[in-house]
Amino acid sequence: MRVNAAIHRDFAISEIDDRLYAAFIEHMGRAIYSGIYEPGHAQADGNGFRRDVAQLVRDLNIPAIRYPGGNFVSSYNWEDGIGPKEGRPVRLDLAWRSKETNQVGINEFATWADELGIDMMLAVNLGSRGIEEARNFMEYVNHPSGSYWSDLRRKHGVEKPYNVKMWCLGNEMDGPWQIGAKQAREYGRLADETAKALRAMTPDAELIVCGSSNDQMPTYPEWERSVLEECYEHVDYISLHKYFGNSSRDTLNFFGKIEETGRYINAIGGVIDFVKAKKRAKNDVYICFDEWNVWYHRREEDSRRWRSWDWPEAPALLEEDYTFEDTLFVAGLLNEFIRRSDRVKIACIAQLVNVIAPIRADKGGKAWRQSIYWPYQLASLYGRGTALRVAVDGPKYDCEVASDVDYLDISAVTRDGTVTVFIVNRHLAETLDLRLSLTGYPGASVEFHKVIEGHDLMATNGPDAEPIAPTDGKGLAVEDGALGGKLAPLSYHVVRLK
Ligand code: AHR
Repeated sequence: MRVNAAIHRDFAISEIDDRLYAAFIEHMGRAIYSGIYEPGHAQADGNGFRRDVAQLVRDLNIPAIRYPGGNFVSSYNWEDGIGPKEGRPVRLDLAWRSKETNQVGINEFATWADELGIDMMLAVNLGSRGIEEARNFMEYVNHPSGSYWSDLRRKHGVEKPYNVKMWCLGNEMDGPWQIGAKQAREYGRLADETAKALRAMTPDAELIVCGSSNDQMPTYPEWERSVLEECYEHVDYISLHKYFGNSSRDTLNFFGKIEETGRYINAIGGVIDFVKAKKRAKNDVYICFDEWNVWYHRREEDSRRWRSWDWPEAPALLEEDYTFEDTLFVAGLLNEFIRRSDRVKIACIAQLVNVIAPIRADKGGKAWRQSIYWPYQLASLYGRGTALRVAVDGPKYDCEVASDVDYLDISAVTRDGTVTVFIVNRHLAETLDLRLSLTGYPGASVEFHKVIEGHDLMATNGPDAEPIAPTDGKGLAVEDGALGGKLAPLSYHVVRLK
């Protein structure tokens, strides 16, 4: 099947914010404890953090990480995690019915993130707590000295403030499952007042207000309108969350959910514009897609387990085994974020280690890369710069969630005269014969071509073998001003032209 596509050097979508490739990690399951942190593990450093896990994280070149939750944050006391470790209380985490030992708190996490060169994006608890605790947390984290909380931080051995810029005003506050869930207007008022307090302390803070927990919530997208009407002028981003699954075993429909995500982004973009116009506001609000991933393989089983278990400490939870199909899906979703980088400035893969994660860390054992690690890594490494429009003229399909879905899923990013194209052939059986015309890149040639293809859709990686990984591709070349060649069915390609 023939597909014609075209890019032009001057036809850009937007500068991509590097934080499009951010991540999220929560105190839940084995994400922190026996995930990134496992004192006593052969690979543990002096602070108890696993070096092998840290290396896999480092290789992703993650710009920012959202912490400490998630649902967890809505009943979390951040003060439980500061000061001498032996004096820290064990608490019941109401979100995941688990025990929280507080052996990792803000200072330990900050040390870990700093060593990896990752900026923190901190969430405050607006569920069981409010403005007072949020301002105290920010004072501890960001104020230099001479006040109660900043001096306490110094007493805890951290002389310099962390100067954290990104702050999330709660988590999924519309969700009935959330501790301290709120009505839209009620939450919007609280978010507005919390934003005012936080900005008084850190004027250049970037504040993220909670949108709906997902686009299937009964109050979506009315929630976004009501919340933004209360706080538009005082926030910078509104959060979107979406998790994806393919329980019906319909691959093309699964891939169609990327189109559905495009509609979600469009809808929220429309709400933002509506509220901006209604309020005659000057500031812009962008989208922070701060939780996204595939989550369905063990979802039902896990949900049954955690609702009835007896408050375990760091239990295995949401440890999804990702497939080759998920690799293709994640590659496509990242393409959508690149294509919508005009609206979506921050996006966080949820989560990073063990819990619905690209990295797995076996307790006392190996750290290894899941199949979805690779599209996330390749986008993070090569998807920075300016997103280019890609016109596509090729075969399409209809499915339950979307119509006219292109079999060729493609995005393009340019930087310093290079172009990187990210391509998925979603077709189950047909090879696509690509001709991507390149205007404004005279003399371009293929610098490298990475490909992931040829696996069973349900194939997975594991601690002893990682068969799903990029290899060097062949058969794509630039000729007569166009990148051309054959793309096997169900294949993912990253091609850099220089
Ligand atoms: O990432 C797992 C959970 O999914 C988060 O705690 C919550 O915000 C979302 O519902």
